[in-house]
Amino acid sequence: KCYNICSFFIIIKKKITGKIMKTVIHKADEKFIEEAGMIIKNGGLVAFPTETVYGLGANALDENASSKIYDAKGRPSDNPLIVHIADIEALEKIVETVPKKAKILADKFWPGPLTMIFRKRDCVPYKTSGGLDTVAVRMPDNEIAIELIRKSGGYIAAPSANTSGRPSPTTARHVLDDMDGKIDAIIDGGAVGIGIESTIVDLSEDIPVILRPGYISREMISDLIGEVKIDPAILNMADNGFKPKAPGMKYKHYSPKADILIIEGDNDKVISKINELVEEKTRQNKICGVISSTENIEYYKGGIVKDIGSKTKEEQIAHNLYGVFREFDDENVDYIFSESFKTPKMGMAIMNRLLKAAGYNIIKV
Ligand code: TXA
Ligand code: MG
Repeated sequence: KCYNICSFFIIIKKKITGKIMKTVIHKADEKFIEEAGMIIKNGGLVAFPTETVYGLGANALDENASSKIYDAKGRPSDNPLIVHIADIEALEKIVETVPKKAKILADKFWPGPLTMIFRKRDCVPYKTSGGLDTVAVRMPDNEIAIELIRKSGGYIAAPSANTSGRPSPTTARHVLDDMDGKIDAIIDGGAVGIGIESTIVDLSEDIPVILRPGYISREMISDLIGEVKIDPAILNMADNGFKPKAPGMKYKHYSPKADILIIEGDNDKVISKINELVEEKTRQNKICGVISSTENIEYYKGGIVKDIGSKTKEEQIAHNLYGVFREFDDENVDYIFSESFKTPKMGMAIMNRLLKAAGYNIIKV
C-alpha cells in the first residue's frame, strides 16, 4: 500500500537527515496504528484522536522524545504533559501510591475524560512532568488511542496537538494545519466526541482539587468521593493574584487574531447589544463574527454569525467551540462577539475556555 511505502521513505529520510520532511496522515486502520506505535517507540511524534481533543504523542518515559513535543508545539518547558495509559496496571508502575479516592474515580470514569495528578516515580522523566515531582495520568476513552498506547510501549505523553496559543484540535485537519512538517504522523480518526480537554483533579493532597474543569463535573466527582475543591485561580479567573496549580492554565490558551467580547445577561438585551456592537464596528470597516446559540441565530442582523449549538444541548456547544474559533481565525475577523453559556454540567468548562480566549473581556447587560 502506498502509505506504507511513503511513510517508509519518510522515516528513512528522517534517519539520514535527522529532520522530519513531511507529516504522514492516514486513516486509523490497524496497520497504520501499528506503524505509528513503532514511530513512538523509536522516539518520534504521532498525533492521535482521543474522546476530548487530538493529542500529540511521544514515548512518555523517554526524555528526548518528550522534549520534541515542546519544540513542535512551541510550548513553554515548565508546562507538564499528561501521560496516557491503556490499562490500570500501568498506573502503579509510574506513580508512588494510588490513593483510595483515585481508585474509586478510576473505576468509575476510566477510560474517560478525567486526568488525575499523582506523585511520580523516578522512571517518569522531569521533561515529561515539566520539572514537577507529580505526574498527570489519564486513560482515554477512544479505541484508536488505546490501541496506539498498547502498540507503543504503554505510556504516551500527549498534550493537545495544537501549536501553543491556538485552539485545541478537534479534527485531524486542525492538527495538520498546525503541525505539518513538524511531526512524523497523524492518525485520522474523524472528529472527536467531546471537544474540550479532560477534567484535571489533583489527588496529591487530602482534599482533591479540580485544576481544570471538563466534561466530568465537580458534582460527578464529589458524589463518589465527598468534598472536592476547585482551584481558586479558576473561580477568580480574571484576578491575576491567583496562581493556578496546573501550570498550563496560566497561559492565555488561545490567542485569536480577533478581540473576543462576551456579552452576558437577559437574552433580549444580549441580542440587541451584539447587534449594536456589530453595526458600530462594521461601520468602521471591521469584520465581525458572532457566536450564537441555535435559538438566537435568526435575530442577528450583521457580521458572520456562527451557530455553536443549542442552549439546551451543552455537548453541542463544547463540541463546536474550538472549531468555531479556528474558522473565525481563517476568516480574519477583527472582532468576535459571543453569547455566554452557563449551562448546568459543562458550563464551567465551556466558560473557562471562552473567558480565557476572550482575555476575560466580558460585559453584563
Ligand atoms: O483531554 C486532554 O486532557 C488532552 C488529551 C490529548 O488527552 N490533553 C491535554 O493536554 O489537554 P494539555 O497538555 O494541553 O494540558 C495539560 C494540562 C496543562 O494545563 C498542564 O499544566 C496540566 O495539565 N498538568 C499536567 N501535569 C500536571 C501536574 N503534574 N501538575 C499540575 N498540572 C499538570
Ligand atoms: Mg493544550
